Amino acid sequence: MKILITGGAGYIGSTIASALADAGHTPILLDSLITGREEFAKLHTFYHADIADQDAVRQIFEDHPDIYATIHCAALIVVPESVEKPYEYYTENVVKSMRFFKQLADLGHHRVVFSSSAAIYDVVPGFMVREDSPLMPLSPYSRTKYMMEMVLKDFCKAYGLNAIALRYFNPIGADPKMRTGLHIQYPSHLIGKLVSVALGHEEVFNLTGVDWPTRDGSGLRDYIHVWDLAQAHLKAVENFEKAITQGAEEEGLPYIVINLGSGNGVTVKEFVAAFEKVYGQKVPVAIKPPRPGDVAGAYANADRAEKLLGWKAELSIEEGIRDALKWGKVRDTIIHY
Ligand SMILES: NC(=O)c1ccc[n+]([C@@H]2O[C@H](COP(=O)([O-])OP(=O)(O)OC[C@H]3O[C@@H](n4cnc5c(N)ncnc54)[C@H](O)[C@@H]3O)[C@@H](O)[C@H]2O)c1
Repeated sequence: MKILITGGAGYIGSTIASALADAGHTPILLDSLITGREEFAKLHTFYHADIADQDAVRQIFEDHPDIYATIHCAALIVVPESVEKPYEYYTENVVKSMRFFKQLADLGHHRVVFSSSAAIYDVVPGFMVREDSPLMPLSPYSRTKYMMEMVLKDFCKAYGLNAIALRYFNPIGADPKMRTGLHIQYPSHLIGKLVSVALGHEEVFNLTGVDWPTRDGSGLRDYIHVWDLAQAHLKAVENFEKAITQGAEEEGLPYIVINLGSGNGVTVKEFVAAFEKVYGQKVPVAIKPPRPGDVAGAYANADRAEKLLGWKAELSIEEGIRDALKWGKVRDTIIHY
């Protein structure tokens, strides 16, 4: 099958492209390279364009009328930046995505898989969230994801789109074959910071927030290997009709939301301990107050993904940490900053 991947030169889109190609499918990438990497794009058929460039999008479908589905990963993704630049985030992630979805509908390419986020969930007692758990997006970034889920649902009703919104939990690791990985030079999230300390780029790991109502006081997340995440997209396009039929039964619409997580909640302290085990050394840790907007956390109930897509996470957090460390060492030989 031919699959269009927007944002295919980014961390997750490029991993999905490798997973599809390894399974015998043909990824077609569309990316503006606003944050993505040309080094990743050139591994596959690549269109260097913005999703809002309607001529370019039309051209892609003229060149490849047999594209079966579109996986829409393109977005700006940095939460603190979205607080400072909401106009840019709503423009890129909402306005442009909305026009892009309308163009897909107009062109008759109605199958869409959308990169949504677990960041839209409210914190619930026990921390486990199902797809119907309450939502409370707290940042402009997460609100763009929430809005696009609503837009997609309405477009499914009005314009004949069929859509699967995949709510990702916390991706870690890299392509196990080291073709692609996290490309941000100075990452700000947990695993990126730990790898930076391990590689000697930073001296100490700041553990922010130790008074949450979790088993050890540190925040709780659901870490998922990016390769598992990519496999879920493979299953989503291969089992597209089954998932959509279920959506139609449940909601009366060809639209469905599916959590992509491991189903395990892991605290930051537990994650640091796992990191030290894989790395083989202690990491210097400094306890700091929570950052603005931090929350206690959530982990996935991932039953629906297993039932509808035949997918469940297989790789451990240790394998994610191992691949992140490996990638940290090879990254600068692949990416030329
Ligand atoms: N990384 C995470 O922790 C995480 C968690 C949940 C959801 N997501 C979602 O997954 C998707 C991919 O995230 P990622 O981590 O790979 O980010 P990334 O920044 O590595 O990739 C995003 C890609 O989209 C491209 N892009 C952005 N705006 C574009 C536009 N207007 N036209 C064309 N290309 C454009 C960028 O150049 C980049 O290659 C995003 O939608 C993100 O919101 C990511």
